[in-house]
Amino acid sequence: MNSPYRGVDVISILDFGRRELDLIFEYADKAQKYARSKIESLKGKVVALAFFEPSTRTRFSFEVAAKRLGADVISISGEEAISTAKGENLADSVRMLDYYSDLIVIRHKYEGAAKFAAEIAVNPVINGGDGWQHHPTQAMIDLYTVLKLFGTVDGLKYALVGDLKYGRAITSFLYGLTRFKPSAVYLVSPEQLKPREEVLTKLRELGLKYEVLASLDPIIDEVDVVYVSRIQKERFPDPLEYAKVRGSYTIDLKLLSRAKPELKVLHPLPRVDEIALEVDGTAYAAYFYQASLAVPVRMALLSLILGGEL
Ligand code: NCD
Repeated sequence: MNSPYRGVDVISILDFGRRELDLIFEYADKAQKYARSKIESLKGKVVALAFFEPSTRTRFSFEVAAKRLGADVISISGEEAISTAKGENLADSVRMLDYYSDLIVIRHKYEGAAKFAAEIAVNPVINGGDGWQHHPTQAMIDLYTVLKLFGTVDGLKYALVGDLKYGRAITSFLYGLTRFKPSAVYLVSPEQLKPREEVLTKLRELGLKYEVLASLDPIIDEVDVVYVSRIQKERFPDPLEYAKVRGSYTIDLKLLSRAKPELKVLHPLPRVDEIALEVDGTAYAAYFYQASLAVPVRMALLSLILGGEL
């Protein structure tokens, strides 16, 4: 296969332009055919999953995606399970995984860890989340979900709600929107969880117009997509700061009673209390569908990078 992605690292969604994202979405459509079957296009390849931070969806969906394509998977999870617990440094762990596999997916609590791993590894590295910084493959899934739900990512009104300060998934989605033409982007959060200045500067540089708000109330009747995120408790330097914002926003049916019928609620999951359970059974809830698309999008990416046909 003649893929422009052959052997590339995936560190930030900002490394991808509109055309590149469209190609991934095209491949994800093809991958949907194999959502319940197996092909052997990556037979003989080994994918290493190096998850130094907790994960459910990202890790499992990468594993399922690799296996549906016929690749073998080796994995480590949690620092206590591997030699970093014995004092091995990240560079040595990456070097070793690079010898044993053809591609490494890494998740780490430190910002920049995936980039660091990519500088060491000869084989491609995919960032499965580095600290509060990037989560590029989640953003691809989220953009693809919007595309499948609305037929387009352009021309829609988006509200991004929650932990815009520490949330890498929501920030990556926001960066992803810079590749499209949304008709409005509202950044909604309590004061303490507002996006970091460097993120806002990047948005301005890239020409994405946004409005910062403290509440969804004034715009709930006009938006098409509400993207919600969990407060990233584990990234708060001070537990008292977390206590101040805990439970400060919840999407429930009372709020949604004023929304457009076609509004969709997205969430990268895990959810804590920011979407009331009563929303799950309604047509607004798109977050489980969104989670299901993780497999075809990651199959698309693995195929494009490792050169497998779909
Ligand atoms: C997110 C993450 O790990 O950044 N989860 C995910 O990958 N789907 C979001 C979160 O932890 O809140």
